[in-house]
Amino acid sequence: MSTKVLMVCLGNICRSPLAEGILKEKVDLDNIYVDSAGTANYHIGKQPDPRSIAVAKKHGIDISGQRCRQFTKEDFKHFDYIYAMDKDNYNNIMALANNSIEQQKVKLILHHMPPSEQEVPDPYYGGDDGFESVFQLLDSACEKIAQDLNQKHCV
Ligand code: 4NP
Repeated sequence: MSTKVLMVCLGNICRSPLAEGILKEKVDLDNIYVDSAGTANYHIGKQPDPRSIAVAKKHGIDISGQRCRQFTKEDFKHFDYIYAMDKDNYNNIMALANNSIEQQKVKLILHHMPPSEQEVPDPYYGGDDGFESVFQLLDSACEKIAQDLNQKHCV
């Protein structure tokens, strides 16, 4: 049975689509299912932000086929690991959990970083530089996640 990983940000158009695309490049997709969602409903059905599509493309990753969806309580049933991009989103996801088993699935994607650096900054209102630094943060976070997942599946 595959391990299921969900990346979550606010809009599901900037950070979590990048996290989904980056992790998919690093794991065996026969064993690991990766998806993303947003805690907000602002952009449902839309493509990722053009700046996220561009920075992913620059690094050889195509995320243009993704479409925005909203996080729901049902996601706790389907997913084994739920990675939040920042503390607001972490708190909003945790508030929807039914029990401690569901809560234990939720982590800040940068949880192994020093306390002051555990949030992936929201790049939506900034410039292109913000998207490159978000890409770099997510690339290192996903490298660690992929190592752990691939080890679990002995690939
Ligand atoms: P994301 O960025 O949470 O990384 O997808 C945002 C996208 C849209 C908005 C805020 C953040 N917005 O306010 O529409």
